[in-house]
Amino acid sequence: MGNGIKVAVVGLGFGASWVAAYQDHPAVAGVAICDPDAELRGSVAERHGIDATFESFDDLLAAGGYDAVHLLTPIPLHVEQTLAALDAGVHCACAIPMAMSIPELERVVDAQRVSSAIYMLMETAVYSNSALYVRELAETGALGDLQFLRCAHYQNMEGWPAYWEGLPPMYYSTHALGPVLAVAGKAASSVQCLGSGCLPDDLRGEYGNPYPVQTALVRLADSPVVCEVTRCLFEMTRGFQERFDVYGNRMAFEWPQVDGEEPVVFRVDGEPLPPGRRSRPTDIERVTPPDFADRVPEELRGHVRGGAGGNFRPHMVHEFMSAILEKRPPAIDASVAANWTAVGICAHESAMDGGVAVAIPPFGA
Ligand SMILES: NC(=O)c1ccc[n+]([C@@H]2O[C@H](COP(=O)([O-])OP(=O)(O)OC[C@H]3O[C@@H](n4cnc5c(N)ncnc54)[C@H](O)[C@@H]3O)[C@@H](O)[C@H]2O)c1
Repeated sequence: MGNGIKVAVVGLGFGASWVAAYQDHPAVAGVAICDPDAELRGSVAERHGIDATFESFDDLLAAGGYDAVHLLTPIPLHVEQTLAALDAGVHCACAIPMAMSIPELERVVDAQRVSSAIYMLMETAVYSNSALYVRELAETGALGDLQFLRCAHYQNMEGWPAYWEGLPPMYYSTHALGPVLAVAGKAASSVQCLGSGCLPDDLRGEYGNPYPVQTALVRLADSPVVCEVTRCLFEMTRGFQERFDVYGNRMAFEWPQVDGEEPVVFRVDGEPLPPGRRSRPTDIERVTPPDFADRVPEELRGHVRGGAGGNFRPHMVHEFMSAILEKRPPAIDASVAANWTAVGICAHESAMDGGVAVAIPPFGA
């Protein structure tokens, strides 16, 4: 290994799909893998030519020599592993969710503040080609004034590991919320949520959540804009989608109804309405968002994919590595991540209390 960043990918289910992008990043000097499943560990090591393998996360941290970890472990492990990494001064990227309670979020934000290491929430939906495209539309002013945001994540987790059963749908809502909150560039300030439908007793798991679906309205700090978010995990018929719609007064973007189709943009001009004219003509067009390959190093361009979704991995690996090199907070740092994650936690609290407005606590103040 040279002088570059030494990274360990921890958890090799979804995690296995990230290894190649780390290996190809020019700032990375070496990649290790960690998973208690010996067979899986062996097969990922062989496929990617990796020598450094660890059975346990504790062994990995105790071995030293790794600058960064990317946690892709089961949800209930995220907080303790994040805290262990930050306490050891190891940069930490973590799959969503950041945590499942407000005190846990506060613990991670506090640990990051006193650590020499950075924390990045790996919210993949923020790095789809469509999300990058709409952020650019917002930043260049093409959308005009932002007026409304809508987002949803529909997924049926039947047959997935037991920790999904009964998980309040909003606890895993940043795939929906992340892109629109990133476009707005504002923190969420409060949320009102209702639960919908009825989850059978055998799917309520350990969380006591009775709802297959939750739907909420989120207010943004220092902004007149409201965001509508819907999330389902079980027992609602719908093809998988992580989707968002963004409406400005000059332009809007809508995710296609079915993945595989192209998104739609709506445009109106800003000229004075001609006398006698009722309503403004709306130009409607299907678009293919660009792949933003020029935003990643040449070595990673082979990982970039076209289409509405694209491949978030090269963009996210590059952001994590760049933030480490540049000694700056990453785009989704601990306080941003805590705000986004807290929306879902507070939304569930609201749903369990008949839809009352719940304030999102401040983080990182
Ligand atoms: N688009 C996305 O952002 C996206 C997609 C899929 C999964 N995820 C998240 O990624 C994480 C992993 O998802 P998954 O479906 O692969 O989960 P999983 O439950 O299938 O487990 C992943 C791996 O973690 C390993 N593991 C268990 N305990 C471990 C430990 N102590 N240390 C190291 N490894 C350990 C398991 O052996 C398994 O191979 C979850 O948090 C999930 O929420 C995110």
